[in-house]
Amino acid sequence: MPETCTHHRPHEFAARLRSRPDSTPLARLLLRAYLSGMPQGERYSDISELLLGELFANAVQHSDAPPDRLVELRFALVAGRLRIEVHDAGSGRPTPRASSSDDERGRGLFLVNELAERWGCCPRAGGVGKFVWALISPAPGFADPTVTRARTAVAV
Ligand SMILES: Nc1ncnc2c1ncn2[C@@H]1O[C@H](COP(=O)(O)OP(=O)(O)O)[C@@H](O)[C@H]1O
Ligand SMILES: [Mg+2]
Repeated sequence: MPETCTHHRPHEFAARLRSRPDSTPLARLLLRAYLSGMPQGERYSDISELLLGELFANAVQHSDAPPDRLVELRFALVAGRLRIEVHDAGSGRPTPRASSSDDERGRGLFLVNELAERWGCCPRAGGVGKFVWALISPAPGFADPTVTRARTAVAV
């Protein structure tokens, strides 16, 4: 279930995209580029790209904001967790559906709830609308490049 917002962490990347379904691949591409510049950023890629795609699609599909209002993305890697945010100027709130088993609808927040360490929705400070955030843990069992290098050095 969504959590309430108590504080705001510093943001390290922000971009605003047009509120259209065909902006979703660009949102995912920006996240991939952001993570490619972070140490071990690939450990977050699969889940974070999936969840960002769902949150972005929701902002486009469900927001009642005027179509010319942009959707804002924010990414920050803080203390070993990736935080993603998707801001829209609409008034509704993300509302997880009770069941998603036999229905394509309701899949987005089901996935967010299952795969994010935590998530929530907050009003935008000093502005209209809200943002939905998700905190993503690194994937377990990912090869640590420093360990791989050390093993290679020993073998040689
Ligand atoms: N950004 C948003 N703004 C307003 N309502 C939202 C937003 N995101 C999600 N919702 C609400 O939460 C519901 C569940 O979202 P989701 O699980 O992604 O299912 P779906 O998008 O298939 O309806 C949506 O149907 C919508 O009512
Ligand atoms: Mg959805």
